[in-house]
Amino acid sequence: MQNPPLQVKSVLIDEKAIQRRVEELGAEISEQYPEGVVLVGILKGAIYFLADLSRAIKSPVEMDFVVASSYRGTESSGAVTLSTDLSGKIADHHVIIVEDIVDTGRTVSALIASLQDKDPRSIGVCTLIDKPDRRIVPVPIDYCGFTIPDKFVVGYGLDYDQAYRNLPYIAVIA
Ligand code: IMP
Repeated sequence: MQNPPLQVKSVLIDEKAIQRRVEELGAEISEQYPEGVVLVGILKGAIYFLADLSRAIKSPVEMDFVVASSYRGTESSGAVTLSTDLSGKIADHHVIIVEDIVDTGRTVSALIASLQDKDPRSIGVCTLIDKPDRRIVPVPIDYCGFTIPDKFVVGYGLDYDQAYRNLPYIAVIA
């Protein structure tokens, strides 16, 4: 018999708190980049965050996406697979990487290295969640929504084996 699906144990960050923080981050980014910015979202986890953040930014926004994967279940495989074929050009543009969660730091660090080859004017990092206790590779985080302890979380884009992404809040699973 299959194991029962993991259940949501508790809500760590509710919908209202996410919305408030996303608005604040959008306001900060708008102020710091009045000339506009290219948001590069890491799929799939950053979909909701990027959709909401981009609408909270009042300066011009372009967006692009890369696909990254390293997780199976709640464990990182360690090897990051990145497909970084951007549809638009980022040369001479301010770029902000938009990530759902920075955990070991491997994904964002690999993406920074690959974007640097494309000659952007600057590269910033905006993550909804930071889990600093798990960091293996240091990454500069310019904008952070929430810092959390070492717990596996789902919702608002974050998954457990592709499930739970559509929860409107961030939750801890049992
Ligand atoms: P890193 O490369 O270890 O920093 O991992 C970043 C990626 O791991 C994120 O984009 C997520 O897809 C995944 N990840 C890390 N922690 C969690 C978690 O608590 N819940 C869901 N996904 C996670």
